[in-house]
Amino acid sequence: MDLKKKYERPVITKNYSGLMNKMGSATLTPPKTEICSVPVKRLVEQYGSPLFVMSEAGIRQNQKNFLRIFKTRYPKVQFAWSYKTNYLSAVCSVFHSEGSWAEVVSEFEYDRARKLGIKGNQIIFNGPDKNRQSLKKAISENSKIHIDHFDELFDIIDITNELDISADVAIRVNMDTGVYPKWDRFGFNFENGEAWNAIKRIVAQKNLNLVGLHTHIGTYMMTADAYRIAAKKLASLFMDIKKEYDIQLEYIDLGGGFASHNTLIGQYLPAEELVPSIEQYADAITSGIYDVQMRPDEMPMLILETGRALVDNTGYLISSVIANKRLSDGRRAIIIDAGVNILFTGFWYKHKISVAQDSGYHTEEATIYGPLCMNIDCIRESIILPTLNRGDQLVIEYAGAYDVTQWMQFITLRPNIVMIMSDGSVELIRKAESLDYIMQQELIPEKFQKK
Ligand SMILES: Cc1ncc(COP(=O)(O)O)c(C=O)c1O
Repeated sequence: MDLKKKYERPVITKNYSGLMNKMGSATLTPPKTEICSVPVKRLVEQYGSPLFVMSEAGIRQNQKNFLRIFKTRYPKVQFAWSYKTNYLSAVCSVFHSEGSWAEVVSEFEYDRARKLGIKGNQIIFNGPDKNRQSLKKAISENSKIHIDHFDELFDIIDITNELDISADVAIRVNMDTGVYPKWDRFGFNFENGEAWNAIKRIVAQKNLNLVGLHTHIGTYMMTADAYRIAAKKLASLFMDIKKEYDIQLEYIDLGGGFASHNTLIGQYLPAEELVPSIEQYADAITSGIYDVQMRPDEMPMLILETGRALVDNTGYLISSVIANKRLSDGRRAIIIDAGVNILFTGFWYKHKISVAQDSGYHTEEATIYGPLCMNIDCIRESIILPTLNRGDQLVIEYAGAYDVTQWMQFITLRPNIVMIMSDGSVELIRKAESLDYIMQQELIPEKFQKK
């Protein structure tokens, strides 16, 4: 047996005496050596670093749990997976296999959903930019088009008249929910009568079937109450349509926006202590609907466009230490191989970051920088970490939402993404980019080409 202790480089740590500070005493989080029982080291050996890791079991568990919470409070619930949150085909496939429809905000996302075999009538087409070509496709494939503005409405009327076909439409409604600044740039306003004006114009058209009402009041919503207000306003609009036109809409759609447990930069307490639970969101939404008098047979289907809260905690980013250094004022800095180009949410989240191997007990405050030669590439201004050596790994948690859609190819190539399957096996779900892959889109003008 090797009795020799592992060398650990010395550090100087300031000693504080007296009471704990208001944040409590310093804590050391245990190392995260495995993700879903698969050793981090093995993942890196096989797939390289940095590496995104998604958990199939985690997604299924979240989806089942959220659906149960909503279904125990309201009889007709349908989830539609928000593609922009994470549109990796493998991830969407898991959500679809759990019964989710698709919620898309562009022709690109619409086509992705169709390629995965989602039928048009299970696609909710949101967003302010729907060109005529995409509208024609969505109308003829029977998708649910959520109209954002009057110009889009006029396009749809024009197309349905031209092709002599009918379209299933809903309107996106924006409103005052007591959360400011208001999200009023999308859809038609409730309070000033714009939404009612749009409804009147739609029901007057023989080729338009008004099938639903939609709102998405914001993202990472810190108060559940806002949803109760939104649900009540949408449900009252639903009943007004019924009374005025004798039209029974199929659904009301309350959008997404439920906060995940990722802590925002500037948030004092950890997110799990601050943000509403899913039960609170579900209570608020369903209470808002029940606030409006309607018979059980009149009640519309409730659609939720689920996003970050269902996927954030199922994604991880493994990264390796490139170097340790001291800044000119003596502060410790660590450079890792994952930058803000792939961890885009690093701009607004304080992710949970754990070391991936056993380490010593000495800890020191550090700044974590990414590998980019850009001053903005800072993953964390300040974090307490044990000593780390070159080649050691860190696991950045809550990297499942918006990173692999908002990431950008900048300075370096984007890495592999794997999924740990429910049976413990590991599958590559997106290949790392290569130079050829990037350059195949470029053309060199004749005169610059080497003969
Ligand atoms: C229309 C719409 N629905 C759903 C979502 C999902 O939101 P979140 O990830 O905040 O739940 C978004 C994202 O902004 C959205 O724009």
